[in-house]
Amino acid sequence: MGCAISGLVPKQVGDVKDDVPVVHLTVEHKEIIKDTWKVIQENIAKVGIIMFVGLFETHPECKDVFFLFRNVEDLEMLRNSKELQTHGLRVMHFIEKSVARLHQTDRLDQMLLDLGKSHYRYNAPPKYFLYVGAEFSRAVQPILRDNWTPGVEEAWKTLFLHITNVMKQGYLEEELNQRNVMANISRERPEKRLNVI
Ligand code: HEM
Repeated sequence: MGCAISGLVPKQVGDVKDDVPVVHLTVEHKEIIKDTWKVIQENIAKVGIIMFVGLFETHPECKDVFFLFRNVEDLEMLRNSKELQTHGLRVMHFIEKSVARLHQTDRLDQMLLDLGKSHYRYNAPPKYFLYVGAEFSRAVQPILRDNWTPGVEEAWKTLFLHITNVMKQGYLEEELNQRNVMANISRERPEKRLNVI
């Protein structure tokens, strides 16, 4: 396409992928994740809350993204908030689904791409995604106690890197699509005006 708008054609997935480092989840990582998830699963409500309160403590700028929480100054109040509990549970159920799809990479990645796209609409930028993995690790450590070994830490860190990488790819794709939509709208306007005349 040698016309002036060819730069506005949506990029292929591969183009966006180039910006995202590749992470490899090994068979051993997957086994460790599935094993330790059994214990984490029994505490998902608790982990969800600790993870988000921790996120807002260490990165207060993340709280501004949430319409429901941005005006709550007292993090102790958030610890008891039904809304944060619900949100934490939604995120943890998503992690549960990711664990269940560890051996179905295509389905897992599609789900992660879609989640990244929805985070573009939530105005939650990828630079914040990585913080969540660190807070997850901090939250599950006291639950797994002696079972929290360097190998377990590495396996979960790799999963979160994979999750956030593919989410970022989805976010960037959606950003590009929206930019193209806006560019097409402004390109079409003069024609529409001509039709009216
Ligand atoms: C590993 C990273 C993350 C995961 C797995 C995750 C997961 C989710 C899930 C499952 C939802 C439920 C809605 C949906 O499925 O679209 C959600 C909603 C949302 N997330 Fe995330 N999220 C992550 C990181 C973040 C970060 C870092 C922020 C902001 C700083 C954020 C902001 C939001 C917002 C604003 C909503 C919508 C809340 C609502 O309207 O109730 N997310 N997220």
